Amino acid sequence: MQKENLHVNVGDLHLRNPTLLAAGLMGLTGASLKRVWNSGAGGVITKSMSKEAREGYLGPRVVETPCGLINSMGLPNPGIESMLEEIKIAKDSGALVVGSIFGNEVKEFAELTEKIDKVGAAAIELNLSCPHAEDLSTIGQNPKLTKKVIEACSGSEIPIWVKLPGNTHISNLVGVTKSAEKAGADAIVLTNTLPAMSIDVTSERPILGHGVGGLSGPAIKPIGLRLVYEVYEKIDIPIVGAGGIESGKDMIEYILAGASAVEIGTGMMERNLDIFKKVCEEASTFLDGREVDDLVGSAHKN
Ligand SMILES: Cc1cc2nc3c(=O)[nH]c(=O)nc-3n(C[C@H](O)[C@H](O)[C@H](O)COP(=O)(O)O)c2cc1C
Repeated sequence: MQKENLHVNVGDLHLRNPTLLAAGLMGLTGASLKRVWNSGAGGVITKSMSKEAREGYLGPRVVETPCGLINSMGLPNPGIESMLEEIKIAKDSGALVVGSIFGNEVKEFAELTEKIDKVGAAAIELNLSCPHAEDLSTIGQNPKLTKKVIEACSGSEIPIWVKLPGNTHISNLVGVTKSAEKAGADAIVLTNTLPAMSIDVTSERPILGHGVGGLSGPAIKPIGLRLVYEVYEKIDIPIVGAGGIESGKDMIEYILAGASAVEIGTGMMERNLDIFKKVCEEASTFLDGREVDDLVGSAHKN
């Protein structure tokens, strides 16, 4: 049962509640996307997809830290054609699906956007921010490149969300978000994982196969919050927050900072798939009858 006071809009896109499955976790098959949708998420985002299949990096690909995870997956995925079939399966179950994509060049983003648009996804998330895929994080740190990618995708009938890296100087981040807005982006997503690593003292070597990776989970929540807070006053398009959300209170903090909706990834390790329902129930109790929409950006009020 979806609570009325949790309905939100990200621009023109209506969500039954503000929680979305974050890209990269449970998002590779139609069956898993459907499971997350049925567990109560307001929308589900696919694993980031590329034109051709990618194997990703050698393992270990994930290591636990006291307050989160460090991953270095290397964006493994079976390629767009096979993912389109998975999106159809998820959509047939009634799920609101957002397709996450990344390309090696500007024109690839445009090609992928066209395919996701045609399959009937609700929105497209451009991943310009994977911290261990060196070329990608550079796009999202560069206002001109970001603009170029978005303009190339502007033929899309569905909203374009732009997921940016959090490991950049705030003034640069604001510059990139303004540039994204000008180029026609419908929403900004902040943040992806942040650059991190873990070293094994016995072997005296990095633990992850790729050496370095990206940190997610509660450890990055204060950083994600700050990024959303800083950007909120500078742009007029909505923000989708991500980073360390595990409870209704965490989600409300992001909403107060300026997020219209949130993505949840690592939190599923702690609270299983029930997390979407639990976060919504906890937020609803906190709201005590108020509309969640009315709280967006409230932390900025004097
Ligand atoms: C194992 C793993 C894989 C991820 N893969 C992707 C991905 O394919 N594309 C993407 O945009 N973000 C990816 N992310 C980042 C998440 O979508 C999210 O932005 C980040 O983990 C912060 O949210 P969280 O703390 O709730 O996990 C991945 C994160 C993890 C932990």
